[in-house]
Amino acid sequence: MGRTTERVDYDEQALEPIKPPMQASSSTDEDSMQRVFATLVAIGVALGAARAGAEDAQVAEARQAVQTLASQLKEALGSALQQGGVDEAIRVCQREAQGLAAKVSAATGWEVARTSTRYRNPANAPDPWERRVLAGFEARRAAGEAPETLEFSEWVETGGTRMLRYMKAIPTGQVCLGCHGTTIAPKAAAALREAYPEDRATGFSAGELRGAFTLKKGSSGECRGRLVNEVEP
Ligand code: HEC
Repeated sequence: MGRTTERVDYDEQALEPIKPPMQASSSTDEDSMQRVFATLVAIGVALGAARAGAEDAQVAEARQAVQTLASQLKEALGSALQQGGVDEAIRVCQREAQGLAAKVSAATGWEVARTSTRYRNPANAPDPWERRVLAGFEARRAAGEAPETLEFSEWVETGGTRMLRYMKAIPTGQVCLGCHGTTIAPKAAAALREAYPEDRATGFSAGELRGAFTLKKGSSGECRGRLVNEVEP
């Protein structure tokens, strides 16, 4: 990928300066040093747990935002397919997918979108971090993990801004194949070609990963876990 990624685990760093005495002069000193050491380790562990707790709460928020957008998209797609068939559904996806994501973003404070390595709308093209996570999802799926359970979160620093990023895989279902599969009805194929001349989002089969929801949210920098310093391409 030609990109350097430097990982810094802050929890480990916080604990690192605390080292047991190399040479204790007496057994009482050694005991008290050990007590101090144990206390410092306990504080370090507690701080780590507090940070992890804050991150868990934010990831839970991200999951909730994904569920909201997923159900809105599903409803829009379902009713469009029912009312006007595939052609109407393509128009609805084209008109509403980005708008629904923007609404969920405004309501939750998370920047919510969808992405894929084989995207239909170029606005959904993955950035380097997303590309790396999508590749990770593919590897985990190949290793036997269930596609609908794949998710990933990480603290990332880009251009001086810290943010928590979260992705959740989107598996390809049967209903998706009419517009993302290998055989697309001629009228639908023509409509897709017209709206998305550089469409890469066809040729999928059921069970494959279609893409992922991708979310990010800036942080005040207080509750920080793992940080990645990202160098933009
Ligand atoms: C009626 C046709 C249609 C069906 C059926 C359909 N999609 Fe799409 N899909 C689209 C269109 C059109 C876009 C581009 C939307 C946009 O412009 O943002 C799209 C975009 C996407 C994207 C965003 C990434 C990209 O390629 O731009 C994902 C992810 C996605 N679809 C997943 C699915 C899944 C999963 C299903 C089945 C549950 C599905 N789609 C069913 C038409 C369809």
